[in-house]
Amino acid sequence: MPQRFKTIIEPFRIHSVEPLKLTTEEERQEKIRAAGYNLFNLRAEDVLIDFLTDSGTGAMSRDQWAAIQHGDESYAGSPSWFRFLAAVQELFPFTHVIPTHQGRAAERILFSTIAGPGKVIPNNTHFDTTRANIEATGAEAVDLVIGEGRTPGLIHPFKGNMDLKALDSLLAARAKDVPVVMVTITNNSGGGQPVSLENLRRVRALCDRYRVPLFLDACRFAENAWFIKTREPGYADKSVPDIVHEIAALADGMTMSAKKDPMANIGGWLAMNDDALAERCRNLLILTEGFPTYGGLAGRDLEAIAQGLKECVEPDYLRYRIRSTEYLADAIDRAGVPIVKPAGGHAVYIDAGAMLPHIPPLAYPAQALSIALYEAGGIRTVEIGSVMFGRHPDGSEAPAAMELVRMAIPRRTYTQSHIDYVIEVVREVATRTPSLPGYKIVSEPPQLRHFTARFAPL
Ligand code: F0G
Repeated sequence: MPQRFKTIIEPFRIHSVEPLKLTTEEERQEKIRAAGYNLFNLRAEDVLIDFLTDSGTGAMSRDQWAAIQHGDESYAGSPSWFRFLAAVQELFPFTHVIPTHQGRAAERILFSTIAGPGKVIPNNTHFDTTRANIEATGAEAVDLVIGEGRTPGLIHPFKGNMDLKALDSLLAARAKDVPVVMVTITNNSGGGQPVSLENLRRVRALCDRYRVPLFLDACRFAENAWFIKTREPGYADKSVPDIVHEIAALADGMTMSAKKDPMANIGGWLAMNDDALAERCRNLLILTEGFPTYGGLAGRDLEAIAQGLKECVEPDYLRYRIRSTEYLADAIDRAGVPIVKPAGGHAVYIDAGAMLPHIPPLAYPAQALSIALYEAGGIRTVEIGSVMFGRHPDGSEAPAAMELVRMAIPRRTYTQSHIDYVIEVVREVATRTPSLPGYKIVSEPPQLRHFTARFAPL
């Protein structure tokens, strides 16, 4: 139905508020210095607009909080488990659903069961925890996103698509070493970009040809489904749940973080059709997560996820969600700031490599920009570049494919005036990029260094 008014409003009003603490630029310069110039080390209360992640940071609805009151904490067979199971299977009808405390627990269980030395696992782009869990088993994680997906300024409707030729050659050479093909929807590390159903169908066909199972990393499945509805020919009149069913029917299983599209603060699951694999995974689950009807979650968490799954596929919500991300992207694009185009579902990614060409990749331009945005406006973003991906398992260091700053937008949390403020800060910082310094790492752990490394300006 055509809309009479062009403003797409938040399809909710505010029911409970959290205060934000205002700080001065001088205070923030001191806080970030004390944090070793790592935004993960800041105290959250010293952040004004927290775009570090959209994971677990969304605002729950009245109905989710009400559902929490129905949480039944029975160790085994809780009614909350059955509500969770029904809500998951309504969208993703896999035979086995294994609840976990968050997405990476599902990844750890899956990959410690099927990966290991000599194995290789392709994905459009592995998220950092997925890659780390694969590499921790001694296996190799390979990113095979289409070429367009590696070119930030290039517009393509499905930049998260898998490079089918590259997948075909990998499978032709090494299918016996590939325990699973993964597809991440939307492709977080590649800019929150969607994967088309057509591409997924072709990935499925390759998996069938080489007899390899296909798993989804489906954290942002609802946003991906909305992009399919609005961009892929033939889907405009299909409901979001129907599109999700079509996606699910192409896969043999999934890993999931309920902290993203399902709008819960914690939770996840691993699902699959293979009975024998499910049994091995459940045994591991019991070892470290919990009994198979709660898997490290409280009954109340299972309730919040079940309700969130119903809300996240509503068209009014998704229209607002995708448009509000695009609103931020459009405004900073108009100001001449280079971004990944088109806007992602959950985040806007600034191309710091293009914006700060005077800083070489291994002086971390995206880290430099993140620090500047915090100092100037109290905005916390995350570096997705050579800090996150530059250190390899053999200890060597090499530039990442892109130097991005991600502004991940928590769901239903910030208003349009918060976003207008962010736009103003980004525009101001953009006027003085040549004066921003690069950084060096002064201490770092062996894995996932971006979380705890400490930096110093050059
Ligand atoms: N897969 C993808 C695509 C993700 O984006 C994440 C988390 C995970 C798996 C792991 O899930 O955090 O519940 O263990 N992404 C967050 C982010 C942390 O900020 O993008 P988790």
